[in-house]
Amino acid sequence: MAILVTGGAGYIGSHTVVELQNAGYDVVVVDNLSNSSEKSLERVEKITGKPVTFYKADILDRDALNAIFDKEKIDSCIHFAGLKAVGESVQKPWEYYENNISGTLTLVDVMRKHGVKNIIFSSSATVYGDPAVIPITEECPKGQCTNPYGWTKSMLEQILADMQKADKEWNVILLRYFNPIGAHKSGTMGENPNGIPNNLMPYITQVAVGKLKELGVFGNDYDTPDGTGVRDYIHVVDLAVGHVKALKKIEENVGLGIYNLGTGVGYSVLDIVKNFEEATGVKIPYVIKERRAGDIAACYSDASKAKRELGWEAQNGIKEMCADSWRWQSNNPNGYED
Ligand code: NAD
Ligand code: UD1
Repeated sequence: MAILVTGGAGYIGSHTVVELQNAGYDVVVVDNLSNSSEKSLERVEKITGKPVTFYKADILDRDALNAIFDKEKIDSCIHFAGLKAVGESVQKPWEYYENNISGTLTLVDVMRKHGVKNIIFSSSATVYGDPAVIPITEECPKGQCTNPYGWTKSMLEQILADMQKADKEWNVILLRYFNPIGAHKSGTMGENPNGIPNNLMPYITQVAVGKLKELGVFGNDYDTPDGTGVRDYIHVVDLAVGHVKALKKIEENVGLGIYNLGTGVGYSVLDIVKNFEEATGVKIPYVIKERRAGDIAACYSDASKAKRELGWEAQNGIKEMCADSWRWQSNNPNGYED
């Protein structure tokens, strides 16, 4: 039996395929390559020494999905495929709702018609909005999202939970990621953003490699120890391993499971700059700018439920996250285009 990984050519998906293959799973990847390169899967194959079955297909394409489920023996699905750029989602809400929500509805419909009722969904800490309690436990109420991207995550959580409630044959695990950074230790796989990065770590690595002049720090007047935003950064390989642990939980017929995947430690923007400089020896010039619309002061997890119930805990500290991000960026200044 195989695991279907939608969005498996992307940043988190490709790292998860490595960990799945290393754990002995057969993997089938579906990706439309709208935000990724097939080269990531070649790199996966080099690392694991195992072939990846890949279909270039859109999860909105019911016929293509039916053909894949007819041909492959799929047991469970890890569902990464989706659009994820927060700012773009504000400009193009219809495209985000169509791709993320209609795409998922099509996927789960094809799954159930083929008797496949195990799914792990990529959710986000963004569903907590401006969190009511910090560190954030899974019991913290969901909040108001500030953008359509966030709402797609929040709505899809509801949709999948409702489906599981109505049909107990479903096993649904919602994984709420905090801030994934870092890259595979080989330096051959990593994040490959299109254009100027929106997120902190890829921006820093592009400053470090000389593609961008300086980092803009979005606000230094938050109610945090140094005034800059605090987040829970998690190494992408730890995140990937979290999915393998979640699959084991699915095999125990979990029903509905909701887990934060974070480290439980918050770092400010200036902490990240300092740790990056110490880990790599590369100086990051920065200037303080206005706050970015939609940002919150602090967001970090209580990660104890995943430890208790999945036996999962992040292994990499912030220095390793910085060093691994840098190894990928400095070896591949143009990402997979090299
Ligand atoms: P990514 O863009 O690298 O990967 C997503 C993949 O999905 C891409 O390869 C893209 O080509 C593919 N895709 C998009 N729409 C598709 C469609 N309709 N059909 C088939 N393939 C499609 O992003 P990522 O960072 O690896 O994120 C993976 C998942 O995790 C996404 O759902 C994202 O929203 C979620 N997530 C990411 C973060 C983060 O910071 N990276 C945080 C929380 C949640
Ligand atoms: C953002 C998204 C979130 C998404 C996550 C992962 C917003 C409001 N939230 O989270 O929905 O799940 O990315 O894709 O966009 N920063 C700078 N300068 C920069 C970039 C970032 O100072 O050039 C700061 C931010 O203000 C923040 C921290 O760095 O305090 C982290 O930012 P970022 O990496 O964009 O992640 P989030 O905003 O936490």
